[in-house]
Amino acid sequence: MNTPEIPAAYQITETIDQRQYLVDGTLKEWSGKTAEVYSTISVTESYAPTFLGSAPDMGETEALEALEAAVRAYGKGQGAWPTMRVRDRISCMESFVEKMKTKREEVVKLLMWEIGKTLPDSEKEFDRTVEYINDTIENYKNLDRDSAKFQKKSEVLAHIRRGPLGVVLCLGPYNYPLNETFCLLIPAILMGNTAVFKPAKIGVLLITPLLEAFQESFPKGVVNVVFGRGRAIAGPIMKTGKVDVLALIGHSSSANALQEQHPKSNRLRLVLGLEAKNPAIVLPDADLDLTIDECLAGTLSFNGQRCTALKVVYVHEEIVEEFNERFSAAVDKLPFGNPWEKGVKLTPLPEAGKPAYIQELLDDAIEKGAKVLNEKGGQHFDNYIWPAVVYPVTKDMRVYQEEQFGPIIPILAFNDIEQPLDDMAESNYGQQVSLFGKDVYTLAPLIDTLANLVCRVNLNSSCQRGPDVYPFTGRKDSAVATLSVHDALRSFSIRTFVASKDNALNNEILEKLLETRLSNFVSTDYIL
Ligand code: G3H
Repeated sequence: MNTPEIPAAYQITETIDQRQYLVDGTLKEWSGKTAEVYSTISVTESYAPTFLGSAPDMGETEALEALEAAVRAYGKGQGAWPTMRVRDRISCMESFVEKMKTKREEVVKLLMWEIGKTLPDSEKEFDRTVEYINDTIENYKNLDRDSAKFQKKSEVLAHIRRGPLGVVLCLGPYNYPLNETFCLLIPAILMGNTAVFKPAKIGVLLITPLLEAFQESFPKGVVNVVFGRGRAIAGPIMKTGKVDVLALIGHSSSANALQEQHPKSNRLRLVLGLEAKNPAIVLPDADLDLTIDECLAGTLSFNGQRCTALKVVYVHEEIVEEFNERFSAAVDKLPFGNPWEKGVKLTPLPEAGKPAYIQELLDDAIEKGAKVLNEKGGQHFDNYIWPAVVYPVTKDMRVYQEEQFGPIIPILAFNDIEQPLDDMAESNYGQQVSLFGKDVYTLAPLIDTLANLVCRVNLNSSCQRGPDVYPFTGRKDSAVATLSVHDALRSFSIRTFVASKDNALNNEILEKLLETRLSNFVSTDYIL
């Protein structure tokens, strides 16, 4: 591939040798082992990977040091952070988001280089995260306002609030290294928990511009950031049994392995966003122009590297021929290039081994009788493999069974709607579905069934997480707990309350508590 000139703003002029990590409120200098960070985007004729810099490759000692800092900051529930007034925690978060906003350019540039996300999508990831934090703050104010009261039932007075759970281990994915990680971390800490956070395996350097903001905005030990491999960091932390919440967006195999290492399974709460195999179901009366556009975006936005991507497409046999022809042609027209190039849709794959993996899926499908429908499908160049539209796909093929998380689109034809429904019921996954069609008499019973198999039915629209105020969850191996601005605050907290029998002594105490404002918990203060 030719490498057109890189705009000055996006050039890598110096490498980033990241050595700082945040533990117990101190930005410490790391002098141990480091891991080199490369981008699969190249600036050379021979298309060699670009060296971006390096980051600490920490181990058990540092992991446990970070955990102890979080445990101390929680302080058996007595820490300054978990007992702080809600309005004061909100001020810390407001200060953080203001500082974060000043780092937009740096983070966006690194998003492009480290994970190959297009410029508009990288900007969107940053802006969406800022919006998510602001919405979370507003939502927390409402939650707190609703708690500024007493209830009385059967002569028992109750002052009910949501309290933190304790120490959270927070692990995010490489495809949304900023947004998805912060969608866990931000509500977790806002609710009064303390956290150890380890950035994803790719998309590490882009977190470093934010370390100072974390350090300056929160009391010591509330947010601890360490770098290294999941196995070296997360495993030892879980084994201590001191983690109260595992918050992870990634693969169910990692979540299972980590969960199993925790010795006290009932102590451990789980907030997990896991893999999926979201189907598109295209009915015979579907509007094909719209369906093809939505299926293109659904299967290939960010090269299919989204948990919400459409990963299998069922098309009714009456229209499958026309769909295949038009869809394949549209795939081959998608512009490929570096993330900052105007209008680009397909970009280099950040995992060096991904093209070979996609090729394996392709070989397996071809061996079992499928064909590649689009001319460019499967062509390799440099750091990419062109999206292959594969048809007819059968259930014994790996591309049907595995979450491809990359550019390959399996298509199946059906003549009986029970076929996709049975497959979905049988599947280990249950996140979302896209349903394309017009006739309400057909759609109505289908929607009623699909809503019981997945957690979001997208009508004539591709699958997606956003807007982030809507519930994001899944059944089976696709998720545990629900994320959204509203739900995440609840997922990272528990209802806890002060109850007292309605008598003169207790009522006098309660009145004094409110008057003196000595308790941060028992408070009817209303956040304006
Ligand atoms: O990787 C999974 C993401 O949550 C998908 O989010 O649908 O906004 O791309 P998105």
